[in-house]
Amino acid sequence: MDARTRSAHETELVAKAGRYLAGGTLGNLMEDVILARGRGSRVWDVSGNEYIDYLLGSGPMLVGHSHPEVVAAVREQVERGTTFFANNEHAILLAEEISKAMPCAEKVRFCSSGTEATLYAMRVARAFRRRDRILKFEGGYHGMHDYAVMSMSPPAPAQFPAPVPDSAGIPQAVASTMLVAPFNDLETTAAIVDRHHDELAGVIVEPFQRVLAPRPGFLSGLRELTARYGIPLIFDEVVTSFRFAYGGAQEFYGITPDLCALGKAVGGGFPLTAVGGREELMAHFDPSRVGRDQFIPQIGTLSGNPIATAAGLATVRILKRPGTYERMHALGRQLKAALQRICDAAGVPARVVGEGVLFEIYFTDAEITDYRSTLKADRPRLARFVQLLREHGVFRGASKFYLSIVHDETDVRETIRAFEAAIGALLR
Ligand SMILES: Cc1ncc(COP(=O)(O)O)c(C=O)c1O
Repeated sequence: MDARTRSAHETELVAKAGRYLAGGTLGNLMEDVILARGRGSRVWDVSGNEYIDYLLGSGPMLVGHSHPEVVAAVREQVERGTTFFANNEHAILLAEEISKAMPCAEKVRFCSSGTEATLYAMRVARAFRRRDRILKFEGGYHGMHDYAVMSMSPPAPAQFPAPVPDSAGIPQAVASTMLVAPFNDLETTAAIVDRHHDELAGVIVEPFQRVLAPRPGFLSGLRELTARYGIPLIFDEVVTSFRFAYGGAQEFYGITPDLCALGKAVGGGFPLTAVGGREELMAHFDPSRVGRDQFIPQIGTLSGNPIATAAGLATVRILKRPGTYERMHALGRQLKAALQRICDAAGVPARVVGEGVLFEIYFTDAEITDYRSTLKADRPRLARFVQLLREHGVFRGASKFYLSIVHDETDVRETIRAFEAAIGALLR
């Protein structure tokens, strides 16, 4: 494949983005490429360059871009009305589907972003336990609200359990409501929970943190620890729901939390996310179940709108077909193994970590198990690799490869060729 060309039109749009968008971007750091369309596993920029897409809109396009069944469902609903701010059939059927899929989701509430979903899940835990503090894990990503941007990606981590804000504009008081523990380190986490259990409202974790798999026993240990003290355990499944398995990471790892936040794929590429959880906890959204002082109003203009829920329902029905997950995991494993093999053969120190459906390469010899170990990797080299891949027709974000169910053997073959070319170029 040839290096990409850039048309005068794209150059002009990039300049205009710099002129009118804050920072020249939508916040996603992809300021130098303007995408025009996507179909299946491929995207095209406005200059006409084609890429195999492993960004997938940062995850939502799990059934590929413009899947005909999703397009048909959306088109049909658009003709009938866009949003009602009232119950609609698609939303009710999608809630049923989520509840049947996700082991902890006896009840469901919709919102529009993953940020909202984790915010509400934390709020439910606080209302239920009548306490303020939430424990999260260093390097865990839960969106952009004040509590989530604590020790999300601190350049200089603090001593556990002290949180470090990752954003300007966060009230100082927020830090006193959060505790931070190391992912994959059950002993340190247990010591923090043992000491603070009486103040803790909940523990929130990405069961597969960013691209890091949980060590055997970590999630079950966390489950046991939180259950011992009656502390709600929240799985942030914004990424993993309907991706690792139909029942998300809960099914994949066989651990059932008390609450979960769902996002990305469940909205089929539209702004739709959800909170799910046990009856007893979700009762806080129901004024007929709890007293006024325990009620959590949860209102969003577009929450559960019929376009997004139609897209979500069409998406999960596609995902439910037999063999979907086996095939996607197997293709991803091929890619992952090939990338490691190519680096090893070229003598490039690298660790390819994660699962087939979601993986990343770290340019380092060191074992990658938690946020601090990721800091040891050569980040400029990764950025260069990402750029080289793009020049060889492979599109991905700054921090991972996402697989879809429509990536196929041809995509994998072409991607492996691009890996070889990019790793070769890194050494020149
Ligand atoms: C695990 C996790 N939680 C929450 C979020 C926030 O979701 P959103 O970007 O929809 O607010 C993300 C987004 O990438 C995520 O990966």
